[in-house]
Amino acid sequence: DFPESSLHPPYLHKTPSDDMIKVVIEDMNAYGLCVLDNFCGSQLGKAALEEFLNMYNKGIFQDGQLVAKSKNDAQSIRSDKIMWFDGKEDYCKNIGQVLNRIDNLIMKANKSPNNGKLGQYNINGRTKAMLAVYPGSGTHYVKHVDNPNNDGRCVTAIYYLNVNWDVQKNGGLLRIFPECARTTVADIAPLFDRLLFFWSDRQNPHEVQPTHNTRYAITLWYFDATERALATKRFELEQKMKQLNALRTSPNPAQVKS
Ligand code: OGA
Ligand code: OGA
Ligand code: MN
Repeated sequence: DFPESSLHPPYLHKTPSDDMIKVVIEDMNAYGLCVLDNFCGSQLGKAALEEFLNMYNKGIFQDGQLVAKSKNDAQSIRSDKIMWFDGKEDYCKNIGQVLNRIDNLIMKANKSPNNGKLGQYNINGRTKAMLAVYPGSGTHYVKHVDNPNNDGRCVTAIYYLNVNWDVQKNGGLLRIFPECARTTVADIAPLFDRLLFFWSDRQNPHEVQPTHNTRYAITLWYFDATERALATKRFELEQKMKQLNALRTSPNPAQVKS
C-alpha cells in the first residue's frame, strides 16, 4: 500500500537519473505505476508542445471514441478531442523524439535481466500515439480500465505537456485507483514534461477529473506479443462469425429470384 502522506509519493521521481530503467522496474513492481518528471528537458518538451499545438490548431482532432458506444453516450463518458499520430509526420520531429525516448526506456526495462513483473510480458510494439486535448469547460473521462478484456495492451504511457498547470484552478487531475492500494488513490497532475507508466489492465482503474483549462497529453499503449496475437486471432474469428451469421439470416438469393 501507499504511505498515507502522498505529497512525495514513492512512485514520483523529480529528476531523471541514470537508473531510470531500474526505477521503472521497481515502481511497476511495487505500485503498478511510475512517474518521471523532467523526462525530456524543457527544450525538447517545449518544441514537442509547439508541434502538438500546430496540429491541434489545424482542426484535425476528432471526438474521442469508445468501442460499441453511440456518439452521445461516448461524449458523456469521455469528452476529449484526439488524433492518432503515426510518427512519420516529418513536421513533427520533436514529438517523434519524445516517443523514441519513451519507447527506448520501456523496451530496455522490459528486456533487462531483472525485470520483475515487467518480465511477465514480451513487449513487441505499441499503438500509434494518441494526442489528446481536453478543451476545458469541464471535459473529463469517467473511471475506466484501458484494457479490461485482454486486447493485448499491457502498459499505458502518458506524456503531459501542460506548462504552469495548477490543479486547484485547472482541475484535470488523473486519479488512479490501484488494486495494490485499496485505501489510497494515486493523484497525478498533468504537469509539463512528466511521463507516467501504469499497467493497462484491471489493476488500474482511473479517471480524468473535470478540466477547466486546455489540457494536452500524448498516450501510448504497449503490446504484449502473446496477448496481442491471441486478441488478433479472436477478432478475426469474431468477424468470420458475424459474416457467417449474416449469410445464414439473409434471404437465399436463389429463392428470391425464382
Ligand atoms: C483505443 C482507445 C482508449 C482507452 O485503443 O482505441 O481509444 O481508454 N483506447 O483505452
Ligand atoms: C485515456 C486516459 C488519462 C490522462 O485516454 O485512456 O485515461 O491523464 N487518459 O489523460
Ligand atoms: Mn485510460
